[in-house]
Amino acid sequence: MIRSLMTNPKISHRPTICYRSIQPSDLEMLEQIHSDVFPIRYESEFFQNVVNGRDIVSWAAVDRSRPDGQSDELIGFVTARIVLAKDSEIADFFRYDSSKEDQTLVYILTLGVVAAYRNVGIATALINEVIKYASRIPACRAVYLHVISYNNPAIDLYKKMSFKCVRRLNGFYLIDAQHYDSYLFVYYVNGSRSPCSPLELVTVVVSCMKTGLKSVAAKLMKNEEKTVKWPKCKETRGLISTQNKRMIKTECSGCEYV
Ligand SMILES: CC(C)(COP(=O)(O)OP(=O)(O)OC[C@H]1O[C@@H](n2cnc3c(N)ncnc32)[C@H](O)[C@@H]1OP(=O)(O)O)[C@@H](O)C(=O)NCCC(=O)NCCS
Repeated sequence: MIRSLMTNPKISHRPTICYRSIQPSDLEMLEQIHSDVFPIRYESEFFQNVVNGRDIVSWAAVDRSRPDGQSDELIGFVTARIVLAKDSEIADFFRYDSSKEDQTLVYILTLGVVAAYRNVGIATALINEVIKYASRIPACRAVYLHVISYNNPAIDLYKKMSFKCVRRLNGFYLIDAQHYDSYLFVYYVNGSRSPCSPLELVTVVVSCMKTGLKSVAAKLMKNEEKTVKWPKCKETRGLISTQNKRMIKTECSGCEYV
């Protein structure tokens, strides 16, 4: 796939971005960009696994119009791994069917674009490749990732791409002896979805209120009790498990980064 872009002021030519898989000849550049854009150091085994496609799928962005023999040099990348849903930390964030042992997820490991090529849609295109890939795996239920809590460009990107923030993890990252929180973002594929969408929550609340009102009205009509107590919302308690209550606090609040 080749996409021509409007001229980026930081680039002296009109770029033509192409996406391909990462290969062994990308090793040096891959390591270089990782060390330039991430505060975390990755082991060389990770890079070896990426370039050799060992348990890791990856896409590279290159600029075919780049002069000086750089037309096949990485300017962006995304790496991901398939994980079994039952072994993942997010099984409770989608309608996981425990009878289907083979359900999978795609976990985005790293995503980066070199500074001169940012804000022209390269990361969006790379993530779309991952989503397309995940969607083609019938057993795959979602794409997910962690992002450090202060990385606003990445957070904006995931929100714009309709990823859902489902959890904040305190002290998830340890960088230079300091702990940082992370957000967990999920993109549902193949008809999968969160067990507690905002719409479902509204439906449950409305239904609960209706039940309550009906019950109050019935009691008033029958004049059974002189003092009417607000009825307990059994329906809500029945439908929303403790697990889902946590969801309401995190996901259904719109996850406005508490
Ligand atoms: C995050 C990153 C991958 C984005 O790459 P990119 O190619 O510039 O992203 P895109 O051009 O596809 O951006 C699409 C959206 O991302 C968001 N975004 C990108 N850069 C942004 C910035 N500097 N500030 C705020 N939002 C930004 C916006 O929502 C943007 O949409 P818009 O252009 O309509 O405003 C890039 O900034 C990067 O490599 N950062 C360092 C590594 C990193 O943080 N990786 C993610 C780790 S989880």
